[in-house]
Amino acid sequence: MRSDSVARRIWLRDFFGYLWWFYNPFGKLSVEGIYTLVHTNYLGEKGHYLNLGYWKDAATVDEACEAMAGLLAEKAELQASDHVVDVGFGFADQDLYWMRTRSPARIVGLNITRSQVELARQRVAGEGLSDRIELLAGSATSMPLPSAAFDKVLGLESAFHFDTREDFFAEALRVLRPGGRLALADVARLPRRGAWHRRFLHWYSWNFYRWKYCVPPENDDDRDSYARKLEAAGFVDVKVESIREHVFAPLHHALAANPTLLRRMHFLARLPYNLILKLDGERVYFAYDYLIATAVKPA
Ligand SMILES: C[S@@+](CC[C@H](N)C(=O)[O-])C[C@H]1O[C@@H](n2cnc3c(N)ncnc32)[C@H](O)[C@@H]1O
Repeated sequence: MRSDSVARRIWLRDFFGYLWWFYNPFGKLSVEGIYTLVHTNYLGEKGHYLNLGYWKDAATVDEACEAMAGLLAEKAELQASDHVVDVGFGFADQDLYWMRTRSPARIVGLNITRSQVELARQRVAGEGLSDRIELLAGSATSMPLPSAAFDKVLGLESAFHFDTREDFFAEALRVLRPGGRLALADVARLPRRGAWHRRFLHWYSWNFYRWKYCVPPENDDDRDSYARKLEAAGFVDVKVESIREHVFAPLHHALAANPTLLRRMHFLARLPYNLILKLDGERVYFAYDYLIATAVKPA
């Protein structure tokens, strides 16, 4: 009886949540509101990754999401002795993967979405890794962590949400040891170029996405301003590269070729996605960039 009423409450929350978020052009949710609503109803069949995937050599959503976690670990030069901070860990798929493949000494995760923290902790405990992966509820812009205590800070497709990215860069610099490394996979925008109608469409598309996915206006960065912000925060050896051709269009093509991949999503979320999949992927994502950024705290 009790579980029936809980299920009914969740059904109603999801129904009105998606109605508000996807069908009302002005409907906006907080970051926690978005991820509580999406919960585990995303694309993966095996895990609960929420990133868009690195599709260079991947054939499935699960492979692509894991490949993005692998690419970030490679860019971070993640190794066995490392003490790591992972900001925006989702359901901790990447932390479990990094432990399996690179076995860092310790990972401390920070995540603002409490329902994700709860489930992620259960998954980590289920793998017997609670002594090496500590998952905290909190914001990457105000880390409840000591200064100069970590070798690496990693953020897998989360920093675009942070309010603001610059505050996070300052916190990352603080918690890193001298010589420590920051590595981020992040969504940004392409520079606005071309005829006025093209620039207008770019502006509209980017700002619609910003509004819907709760990206603060201060995070309106392209690749160059991203690098400048990292340098201004005090990082050196800053590198920011675009991998967009291995992210947006291949994901779009994979979903268009196999729309049944959308089946795990809420039915109200599937409809707009099915419409978008009828369009050309390059056009849909023409305003967006996908960046891999690395930077070092001066020794
Ligand atoms: C697109 S999901 C990516 C999750 C995960 N990294 C993955 O690849 O599956 C973005 C994540 O960032 C988290 N997040 C957003 N804002 C945050 C903040 N200020 N501090 C910590 N985590 C945050 C969200 O809760 C969510 O887990």
